[in-house]
Amino acid sequence: MCGIVGAVAERNVTPILLEGLRRLEYRGYDSAGIAVINPDTCLDRVRRVGKVQALADSLQQTPLKGSTGVAHTRWATHGEPSESNAHPHICNQQVALVHNGIIENHTELRNAQQANGFHFTSETDTEVAVHQIEYYLNQTGDLLEAVRLAVKDFDGAYALGVVAVKQPGRMIATRSGSPLVIGVGIGEYFIASDVTALLPVTRRFIFLEEGDIADITTESLTIYDKAGNVVEREIKESNLSADATAKGEYRHYMLKEIHEQPLCLTDVLEGRIHEGEVIDNSFGPKASEVFERLKQIQIIACGTSYHAGLVARYWLEAITGVPCNVEVASEYRYRNPVLLDDTLVVTISQSGETADTLAALRGIGDRAWKLCICNVPESSLVRESHLTLMTRAGPEIGVASTKAFTTQLMGLMLLMLAIGKHRGLDAERRHAIIEAAYQLPGQIENILSASDQIEQWADAFTDIDNAIFIGRGTLFPIALEGALKLKEISYIHADAYPAGELKHGPIALIDSDLPTVAVACNDGHQEKVKSNIQEILARGGEVYLFADESLDMSELGDNCHVMPLPSVSAEMAPIVYCVPLQLFSYFVAIRKGTDVDQPRNLAKSVTVE
Ligand code: M6R
Repeated sequence: MCGIVGAVAERNVTPILLEGLRRLEYRGYDSAGIAVINPDTCLDRVRRVGKVQALADSLQQTPLKGSTGVAHTRWATHGEPSESNAHPHICNQQVALVHNGIIENHTELRNAQQANGFHFTSETDTEVAVHQIEYYLNQTGDLLEAVRLAVKDFDGAYALGVVAVKQPGRMIATRSGSPLVIGVGIGEYFIASDVTALLPVTRRFIFLEEGDIADITTESLTIYDKAGNVVEREIKESNLSADATAKGEYRHYMLKEIHEQPLCLTDVLEGRIHEGEVIDNSFGPKASEVFERLKQIQIIACGTSYHAGLVARYWLEAITGVPCNVEVASEYRYRNPVLLDDTLVVTISQSGETADTLAALRGIGDRAWKLCICNVPESSLVRESHLTLMTRAGPEIGVASTKAFTTQLMGLMLLMLAIGKHRGLDAERRHAIIEAAYQLPGQIENILSASDQIEQWADAFTDIDNAIFIGRGTLFPIALEGALKLKEISYIHADAYPAGELKHGPIALIDSDLPTVAVACNDGHQEKVKSNIQEILARGGEVYLFADESLDMSELGDNCHVMPLPSVSAEMAPIVYCVPLQLFSYFVAIRKGTDVDQPRNLAKSVTVE
């Protein structure tokens, strides 16, 4: 989704802004732009549709120079990707602004501003923001005051970076509903949508809270909370190095992140197990009390994180006996759901900023305990939850989630074990599960080093338009995730079904042009999955089956291609089986020549509805 960078310094900030934009490319965008206040105290701006490289090329031709500036990558919401819709937006050559989020009452504001003589040059909701600020700047003569008054007129979500020609060396930053961090340098300050943009210039960050407004100059930083009081916000040191977001030897971030999974899974376990038991405090100081008292679990998430939640429901209900619902946040937030007493709401999110998940959490108010499984420690979801478990996957740059997913699963496995301890899950079973969890990194390494067969299978998918994925039990959500991965990065339409549902409709689709990808582990459902595969084969379908190496699939014949996977327990299977499906989608996408790391139309962090 959109990315913001801004800087106030003594030096020319254009290279810093440009590098920041490059580092935010992973969020997904379709145009980019930079505006700086030049040494003659005028605003200079360059905007381009397409990649940040196009902007960089233009800056070679028309270099910008200035020590105060803002920059942006735009993911179109209101108005097509075009130069005139790209940010920064400028009003009367006086104020320049970048914006993430959506100003929902933009039509009303636009009508009022047009009546007041403001001229519009874009179709965006954002342009009303820059006009409103310029309007108040004319009245008050002070940029901080102008932003403070303007945001009171906005409904919706925003993170803003604003500079004004008459106040060079000053930038106002504010957020409500969209994330924004301040990077603290030596005699210089920066703003960005996330820390990765600023790692080459600082590792010291302040995470603005909802409604904060920051008044930033080279000499000072003053932050006001939403009530207008001056507040001190803690400076946090990031342990990420500037090359934490580098691709290294890999052709794509996605491939790098797939290969990082063994290490990441080890990191999830690190320090959270003692004498074969999950330490409750890994989730926060009050976790034991909550786990003891809870009567029901409600999981809320979106996309891949939702699939992790679906797996967890199988684990939680089957192993701990605690009732568990799972729902996509975009539905949950609007349907007035019933929450029983003593419910634990679990949100799952890589970014911790997903607008729907955050809104669903906020809608719950104080009616439940809130636990968040997340990869970004300073994110809004983490800050607004009572209990948390960090997945420690490190920055995930590929839009398609891979290591974020497997580490979420491992985190949910720890949650299941911690709750199970309070629910009579016997110690022997708990220890066996933990023992098996420690084996996972090695088993996944084995799959990663034997990917040739998966690559060969990918050839068969290069020219197809549709595919079906099937699985049963905990592998049904893995089939869903496999289909999502294929759709996202190869643009092949793929649907996933519980294998037993095929004959209730989808089997009508089966013919020799529609391949099926199936997953089967040794979980007691294998014979049933085999029967479902037979039904597909009998109708001329071709099947690509990832199956436990201990299962005999020879009777399925030549139209069922089988790739054996390491024998793992039923509990561990989802964490292992998603890996070959990730690789499979990756290889198909490579053959199709798509933009693997930044697939069309997608954003990494979905911070608007
Ligand atoms: O940051 P989140 O985990 O909350 O994001 C939710 C989804 O947008 C995300 O999982 C998305 O589906 C994946 N990038 C797909 O690979």
